[in-house]
Amino acid sequence: MNEMKLKNIFVTGASGKIGRALLPELLAKGYKIRALEFEEDIIECKDVEIMRGDLRDPSLAKKALQDMDAVIHLANCKENRELFLDTNIKGTFYLLDEAKNCGHIKQFIQAGSDARAGIYHYPRPYPIDETYPHSAYPGYYAFSKVLEETMCEQYTIQYKLPITVVRFSWVHDEDDFLCHITLKEPDFGVPVWKELAKTAKQKEFFEKGMNGVAKLVHPGGKPGIRHIVGIKDVVQGVILAIGNPSAIGQAFTITAPSAFSYGFAAEYISKKLNIPVVEFEYDKFHDFTHTIAKARSILGYNPEYDITKIIDSAIEFRKSGKERHQTKYIG
Ligand SMILES: NC(=O)c1ccc[n+]([C@@H]2O[C@H](COP(=O)([O-])OP(=O)(O)OC[C@H]3O[C@@H](n4cnc5c(N)ncnc54)[C@H](O)[C@@H]3O)[C@@H](O)[C@H]2O)c1
Repeated sequence: MNEMKLKNIFVTGASGKIGRALLPELLAKGYKIRALEFEEDIIECKDVEIMRGDLRDPSLAKKALQDMDAVIHLANCKENRELFLDTNIKGTFYLLDEAKNCGHIKQFIQAGSDARAGIYHYPRPYPIDETYPHSAYPGYYAFSKVLEETMCEQYTIQYKLPITVVRFSWVHDEDDFLCHITLKEPDFGVPVWKELAKTAKQKEFFEKGMNGVAKLVHPGGKPGIRHIVGIKDVVQGVILAIGNPSAIGQAFTITAPSAFSYGFAAEYISKKLNIPVVEFEYDKFHDFTHTIAKARSILGYNPEYDITKIIDSAIEFRKSGKERHQTKYIG
């Protein structure tokens, strides 16, 4: 199977956006999966061992990791001041500590995020790489991604726990990108265009329920630059990391082959969907790009979903008439 001979993997967050795309690919690779199912978040994939439970339960980790070779920890309560300490921090701590104590976990994969680097909230003089210091944007979600990673770093140093952190950009699946960039609901992610509407012309789109595509610009008119990732590339990144001895003790940026410009994306969608481009000036947006050189060279990561492919697949999804999953992450 692979050099590390992993077979049994405990996966948290298996019903979530990344988990539901990842499980079939793990099964196709021959792994046996025990997946944590939480409350009403039902796991869609049937060929896995389902374990019902709550990360906040201190007794969960011992049962969950029994007979497991690896952990893929995806569960997270996102932006929630009341829950984040118990779910994200204590929940991750219980798993890390049991992985250390049980002694049979050969790899612990932690889902990281570029929220830990603050994405567009701070000026970015150069592309963000894995050595870029933690600098979370305001709020409890980004804060928790820094704390989770800090715990992982310490468990690597203190106990040589074989950890890999895969840091994803904002993940796009289904018609997420259209929900983000077009003016009609459902909305997805930030900034929220309605809140940036200042002129009567901009406001009219929302008042009359007219559709348009947002072009985020800096004061002066230069379009914003942002780096996101398609779900298939996220799955590719995790699959390449699992069971890979070169990934142990490392963090990897997992994102699209290149950043996108809101100018290009808006024009492309405008032509494809025949809707007008509407400019929104936002003085709090700082351009950011990532470099994926490390994931490319160590993992052989080769992402395929640039912005045109992300947009094309979002349009395809809409045409298919499928219903979109509810999503909690606000980008
Ligand atoms: N979606 C993104 O854009 C994105 C970007 C970067 C990083 N990430 C990270 O990737 C991971 C997965 O993200 P996602 O978007 O798939 O998440 P999601 O919000 O779609 O799913 C969250 C999962 O966590 C589970 N969960 C929540 N509270 C729990 C608890 N108390 N006990 C057990 N399980 C619980 C839910 O049941 C669900 O399966 C997270 O760590 C997230 O921070 C996501």
